[in-house]
Amino acid sequence: MKNILVINGPNLNLLGTREPVLYGSQDFSEILNELKTHFPDLTISYFQSNNESELIDALHVAANNGVEGVVLNPAAFTHTSIALADAVAAIAVPVIEIHISNVYSREEFRRKSYISKYAKGVISGFGVSGYQMAIGYFVRS
Ligand code: DQA
Repeated sequence: MKNILVINGPNLNLLGTREPVLYGSQDFSEILNELKTHFPDLTISYFQSNNESELIDALHVAANNGVEGVVLNPAAFTHTSIALADAVAAIAVPVIEIHISNVYSREEFRRKSYISKYAKGVISGFGVSGYQMAIGYFVRS
């Protein structure tokens, strides 16, 4: 597997400054550079949006453009969006759901994910290392 797309949902454009105790102090451009260094043989593309419909469109486009694995942090849409879950279900590309924080150790409402049922697997609570773990799975599968 060579062609991986990382998608981050709402407010993750603020990584680095947003609640660093929960989400760390690296912005995503640093994280992406580290991922590209760690996986030099992969093409890793990145998309972030605060807009639900753009995230859905990005999944549709990925499915039609040779993306072989998606690492998706749906952020707050995890807990609210049937439409995003339907998009994950609709595409043949495997999607790994990732959360930087441990959503099970936080507010009750974060324990509900509409996405997980359709995800290949879920990574939560390992900080930004979770992105590397997810891509590592795709490399080995
Ligand atoms: C998050 C967890 C979500 O509950 C939250 O809304 C986020 C980030 C995480 O990466 O830990 O925005 O997906």
